[in-house]
Amino acid sequence: MTQSSPVFADVDTGVDDALALIYLLASPDADLVGIASTGGNVGVQQVCANNLGLLELCQATSVPVSKGADETLTGPLRTPSKVHGPRGLGYADVPASEAALTDYDSATAWVRAARAFPGELIGVATGPLTNLALALRAEPALPTLLRRLVIMGGSYDHIGNTTAVAEWNISVDPEAAAEVFAAWSDEGLGPQRLPILCGLDLTRNVAITPEVLARLAASAGSTSTIMSVDDKRGTLSTASNPVIRVIEDAMRFYLEGYYDNGHGYLAHLHDPLAAAVALDPELIATRSGRVDVELDGTLTRGMTVTDWRREPNARIGVGVDPAAFFERFIERVGPFARRLAP
Ligand code: BDR
Ligand code: CA
Repeated sequence: MTQSSPVFADVDTGVDDALALIYLLASPDADLVGIASTGGNVGVQQVCANNLGLLELCQATSVPVSKGADETLTGPLRTPSKVHGPRGLGYADVPASEAALTDYDSATAWVRAARAFPGELIGVATGPLTNLALALRAEPALPTLLRRLVIMGGSYDHIGNTTAVAEWNISVDPEAAAEVFAAWSDEGLGPQRLPILCGLDLTRNVAITPEVLARLAASAGSTSTIMSVDDKRGTLSTASNPVIRVIEDAMRFYLEGYYDNGHGYLAHLHDPLAAAVALDPELIATRSGRVDVELDGTLTRGMTVTDWRREPNARIGVGVDPAAFFERFIERVGPFARRLAP
């Protein structure tokens, strides 16, 4: 039997966050012990609803969901991202959930989870880092309490997706990211404890296409019609499997957004790659470096400035085999979806 590790996810769900959560729930080596919600792709209230709805869909309603920051450390959130749609899940409707949020917030949830599994907990953050920064203020020992931290965020020696140089998650709350990186900068932590950063230069290599989605549906034993750029916008999935239906409806909106932004009819699975790396860091090649977040620049605020010569404070993802990632994704999520709706 596969040994499972406790995992805590901090998300701003979001189409790709949703796929990351489904991946974690589908993974026999992960025991998802909590979800922190943060405002980002959409407002925090909507992120909470999306998380609860996804757990309902995946029959995993015992996973506690916490509400977190609806503001950054320094003020209001930037305008929600357009690529995820007004409710964050594209065209998808997730089932309504009766489940309640925890009576403690997301920062407290981080601290409780880390203390409950000292030295064991794997943290994965795929949204702005506000909750984690607040958790560090409450429990400065988090870097030693966690077994591993994987962050989707930043862009290393590469362009941005929110400004010319800044990536979305860092750009939403640069001060939070700076506090998190500073907390992990202690030289005494050792290389294995350095956070693993999955930036755009890495995650832009994993582009999902209609062909990959069709393989996923087949592996779930679901009917499905292969999506095409020529389909009427907003065409809803007719897949027989409910999990595949939600994935396809969410992904269609994401594919359309990417297409409109000039990328082609594909989309980058930033957050699912980070989730997969959280469970298996061997999926990517990393290089240790020093990352500082620009807080002041009028053009460069939120940029992750990378210095490969200084004492490292992170392991930066620099190489991935997209085919291996998609194979892993399909072999986990397909049978999981099939099990939920035999
Ligand atoms: C990140 O920004 C969000 O829109 C995605 O969910 C991902 O976490 C990519 O820059
Ligand atoms: Ca995200």
